[in-house]
Amino acid sequence: SAAEKGGYDYFMLKEIAEQPQAIAETLIGRLTEQGEIRLDEVRLTDQDLRDVDKIFIVACGTAYHAGLVAKYAIEHWTRIPCEVELASEFRYRDPVLDRSTLVVAISQSGETMDTLMALRHAKDQKARVLAICNTNGSTIPRESDAVLYTHGGPEIAVASTKAFLTMVVACYLIGLHLAQVRGIKYADEVGAVVGQLQEMPDKLRTLLGRMDPVRELARELASAGTILFIGRHVGYPVALEGALKLKELAYIHAEGFAAGELKHGPIALIDHGTPVVCVVPSPAGRGMLHDKIVSNIQEVRARGARTIVIAEDGDEAVVPYADHLIYVPRTPTLLAPLVTTVPLQVLACEIASARGHDVDQPRNLAKSVTVE
Ligand code: AGP
Repeated sequence: SAAEKGGYDYFMLKEIAEQPQAIAETLIGRLTEQGEIRLDEVRLTDQDLRDVDKIFIVACGTAYHAGLVAKYAIEHWTRIPCEVELASEFRYRDPVLDRSTLVVAISQSGETMDTLMALRHAKDQKARVLAICNTNGSTIPRESDAVLYTHGGPEIAVASTKAFLTMVVACYLIGLHLAQVRGIKYADEVGAVVGQLQEMPDKLRTLLGRMDPVRELARELASAGTILFIGRHVGYPVALEGALKLKELAYIHAEGFAAGELKHGPIALIDHGTPVVCVVPSPAGRGMLHDKIVSNIQEVRARGARTIVIAEDGDEAVVPYADHLIYVPRTPTLLAPLVTTVPLQVLACEIASARGHDVDQPRNLAKSVTVE
């Protein structure tokens, strides 16, 4: 009913709007005033966590994209090798695991059969399993050795939005906690990152207040036959997530690419007017990441692409190459997916509704996939 949707036309719109609060809930009680992470609820001892020498993240769909983001952060902060794999693939091969492997199963519903089977496959090989889950008491956390709930509140729309953001935050907490417990070099960063996470709900509120141009753009793109997404580093999983949202809601062909891979094939897809959404990292970030993607934007534009650029406030370098420019609040590179994903959610939702689709109940899909 309209009341359940809190005055929004769709649950998805309500859930997009709830993201600042959802993230705040994920953080509550888990950060100390001294800028430390407190995860006593996670029933793995500090010794267990010190013994971890490899991490596998297993998940499906949007949860898998959260895992891809997590890899960049976890490896950076902890220096523990971290692999991310689709649960349905992990389950049918012989991954190298033992009792010092930590397997992180990410699932909004906690009932996804592929992820559950992957978890059992990991347990059979004595790995420890930690669930990141949004649904209290569901099967995946019950079968895991430990759980970190995201506390994002119920997600009704088939397309995952607030669950994605809260899963990413939960992964950051795990990574920071591991770094803290193991006392390694990058643990110095923990305090600073904690502060940045605390600023996130307000940043998201600001961002959500600026979505009118995205809605306008959605109407212009509603008749597109294909939309491509490019990104690098954590912007790459954001590109994958933007493309998934569009496929599942708008039924438009969409693909996400690592921007550096374009020249190895996908750039041949670019034709006159092909919309390309470009996820740009902070110019203040490390290395040449920002400049590299700016040149990728130039490359696709030179081949006729219509560029839709998601960049951080104050980034002037992208202006000459952006047919549409969507600014997001300044955010350090590793945390940027929390802001850059939001306009892509709104874009997919609005394109789908402009095309007359039921945003909350896309065809052929179920909210939780309990079959293999
Ligand atoms: C996301 O928009 C999808 N509907 C889907 O990919 C989903 O993320 C996937 O099925 C995993 O679900 P889970 O998080 O409940 O395990």
